[in-house]
Amino acid sequence: MPEQQTPRLEIRNLCRSYDGRAVVQDVSLSVMPGQVTCLLGPSGCGKSTTLRMIAGVEMQDSGTIHVDGSLICDTHFRIPPERRRIGLMFQDFALFPHLTVAQNVAFGLDGGRAEQRARVEELLTRVDLMRHIDSYPHHLSGGEQQRVALARALAPKPRVMLMDEPFSGLDNRLRDEIRDETLDVLKEEGAAVLLVTHEPDEAMRMADEIALMRGGRIVQQGAPYNIYNAPRDKAAVAFFSDINVIRGTVQGALTETPFGRFLAPGQPDGAEVEIVIRPQHLRIDFDRSGQGPLPTAEHGTPARGVVQRARFMGNESLVEFRMDHDGSVLKATVPNVFLPKPGKALWLTIRRDRCFVFPAGRG
Ligand SMILES: Nc1ncnc2c1ncn2[C@@H]1O[C@H](COP(=O)(O)OP(=O)(O)OP(=O)(O)O)[C@@H](O)[C@H]1O
Ligand SMILES: [Mg+2]
Repeated sequence: MPEQQTPRLEIRNLCRSYDGRAVVQDVSLSVMPGQVTCLLGPSGCGKSTTLRMIAGVEMQDSGTIHVDGSLICDTHFRIPPERRRIGLMFQDFALFPHLTVAQNVAFGLDGGRAEQRARVEELLTRVDLMRHIDSYPHHLSGGEQQRVALARALAPKPRVMLMDEPFSGLDNRLRDEIRDETLDVLKEEGAAVLLVTHEPDEAMRMADEIALMRGGRIVQQGAPYNIYNAPRDKAAVAFFSDINVIRGTVQGALTETPFGRFLAPGQPDGAEVEIVIRPQHLRIDFDRSGQGPLPTAEHGTPARGVVQRARFMGNESLVEFRMDHDGSVLKATVPNVFLPKPGKALWLTIRRDRCFVFPAGRG
């Protein structure tokens, strides 16, 4: 048996209510050293509240927090925030305007001057800002200020880094760059990182693990690849992309649709199911005198629809179809070279291996 590593951060069954309303419910997760876990979920689902409890600026109603196997906080015992060795980086990271970059980074550091200076230089080298060591924050760009804030948060060697939408103040191009750089630095430092975001792209880009939150609970947890490819319900699919929903009724563990039959294992006869598919997994084919392409095992049976709307989106086009069989609307993304006109009849097939079948009405 491989030796079990102790998680750097471990929270168990955290709960918090405000005015009788449960805002965080039974949240448990652990993060290993050097690992990035993203708390991902819609606005108001309890992400920041979870982070604030770990930081110690908010008390949980119940549940425990451990760092490196030692208890940090439960309902009887509480180490104050400043002694938790937990680094914080929030959206409004506010550097001290009257201090230089070096002084900002050194702010939370103990130890002698030489020791402090060495750590400041080490971090500023890592975030590539040594040339600005004596500058004041207002002389730096937004991205540079962000990197100083990162250096400041990492300076005291926190065991855990909590980051709450730290990149949301940056414009798109800069954000991608800073995210990648930040990730490199965090990995080198070996802190356990819990990063809050409501942007799926950010979570996919940064996370080793995603914890999907909804209504105060973690509804699914796993590697980005698994969450994207094995979502547990319709809402989990919808969180990462547009979705199409095709409804059907189960008969003998199968459901018939205009796109062919789908397996619905474990579903009783008469159950309603929803087949969920992302727009990028629909394929478009031309109409040949009222005929579509031949059915295949991979794509099933084609169904005909009429283009309602087609939008050019840069890398791809988004086409909306009104389907002949029931008037429902399905969306497909296609390479940008193809932008069909409204009114054109086309055939759609769906990638059967990319369909998710869920009981209707769940999620
Ligand atoms: N101090 C408080 N008193 C009362 N309600 C609060 C308090 N703090 C948070 N809440 C409520 O708890 C819920 C969760 O808030 P939280 O800030 O954790 O959400 P979030 O997931 O971080 O959302 P966002 O993505 O918008 O930042 C919200 O409905 C919020 O209004
Ligand atoms: Mg928040």
